[in-house]
Amino acid sequence: MENQIPNEIKEITQKLIISESDLNKVVSFLDQECQKGLNKALHSDVDVKMYPTYVHAIPNNNTNYEEGKFLALDLGGSNFRVGLVELIDDDIEMSSQMYALPEQLMHESGEKLFDYIADCLAKFMEEKAVKDKKLALGFTFSFPLKQEGLNKATLTQWTKGFKCPGVEGNDVVELLRQALHRRNDIDVEIEAIVNDTTGTLMSCAYQIRDCRVGLVVGTGTNACYVEKVEHISDYFPDSEITVLNPGQVIVNTELGAFGDNGVLDFIRTKWDKEVDTRSKNPGCQLFEKMSSGMYLGEIVRAILVDLIDRELILNGLGSEKMNTPFAFKTQYISEIETDSSGKYDEIDRVLKELDLTHATRDDCEIIKFVCSLVSTRAAQLASAAVATILNRIKRFNTTIAVDGSVYRKHPHFRKIMEETICKLVNPRYKLVLSEDGSGKGAALTASVAVKQRKISREMNQESFAQQQQ
Ligand code: BGC
Repeated sequence: MENQIPNEIKEITQKLIISESDLNKVVSFLDQECQKGLNKALHSDVDVKMYPTYVHAIPNNNTNYEEGKFLALDLGGSNFRVGLVELIDDDIEMSSQMYALPEQLMHESGEKLFDYIADCLAKFMEEKAVKDKKLALGFTFSFPLKQEGLNKATLTQWTKGFKCPGVEGNDVVELLRQALHRRNDIDVEIEAIVNDTTGTLMSCAYQIRDCRVGLVVGTGTNACYVEKVEHISDYFPDSEITVLNPGQVIVNTELGAFGDNGVLDFIRTKWDKEVDTRSKNPGCQLFEKMSSGMYLGEIVRAILVDLIDRELILNGLGSEKMNTPFAFKTQYISEIETDSSGKYDEIDRVLKELDLTHATRDDCEIIKFVCSLVSTRAAQLASAAVATILNRIKRFNTTIAVDGSVYRKHPHFRKIMEETICKLVNPRYKLVLSEDGSGKGAALTASVAVKQRKISREMNQESFAQQQQ
């Protein structure tokens, strides 16, 4: 395909190709940021916040979790999901229901958002005939959270287009509790709040023992991993939930914000800058904006509009849709790249949706080429993130649990990642798709918490009894 691409187009888009040495630079800069993020004294100046999640035990051993029924809530993108998870005899079953999140709720008050969540939860419990039961709940909330406990967490800033006032700076668990209180018809105990990366890791660790990293490349991009507590300055775990694994904790890196201080400017293009300016949070989440589903389509659109304006494609003629910000969906990239060489079925369909029916075959090849440059760069950046983490944890063999729409749907994303990670690091690793990761993971975290509290209570009772003898 590349042979058919005119040199002028190749030159204009050259900056989207990241060399191996630049990718190594990304790894080294990210590592420095992670190191600083773990140091409380440097925390206020660092973008990659490395928040400890208070999740110490991973469910890779059945003595680590409690069996039974648990509820899961999952909020993080354009949909919201409620699940009922049953853990029994090493088996996990989940039934869940997806609820659309009306666009206006992403901008209205936090109170309205949490009332809606509570409402969906109550409806779901009614349908599953568990409304009269007291159940423990795990809440996946996929935004940057500064945690002070397993079920105490402040939202530091909204990402991914959310902007509800009254939530940033507040404890999200408390906001959900208040919403549940307002309706007062269900009895749930919010045991754990987790990021989607943590949920992804937890649900994979349940099946694969050496899973230590969770990666999400979906609407947003982020990763978490199991870190040694001794590497984190000024972190004080909650003694009730660390009885089994006090020496380790999952750290939510929030690496989507990597680059906000300018360190990635050497690979950012003018189109990345345009997309950032048009976003709801300019200057923030710059790594995420080069790698995640919320922005990849918009980057492609910005490049194509530029090429149309220079009269290099489509005879210089765009369409109203092509000129509408965010009208080129990231899903189109996956669809366009699905067409094998010489086939144009998906491209034709997508171009029709964008009112670009005047595209020639040469135009189609160029459009596909641009899509592949943008998706390859995203996969390589995600690989750089994984390589950085593998270097930090220094294990011989590690499974990385991965989830997210971009990773799942793009036809070559996984392959590009596998090829790239090998070039960047030595340790052996495996990428494993984490099915239903964030929902099941939240319920598993709640079950681990219940178990640890139980063990901790029993230990206290035993030591009290011994003191009495
Ligand atoms: C959020 C992360 C989340 C990621 C993937 C980012 O925008 O800040 O907390 O894990 O998206 O959903």
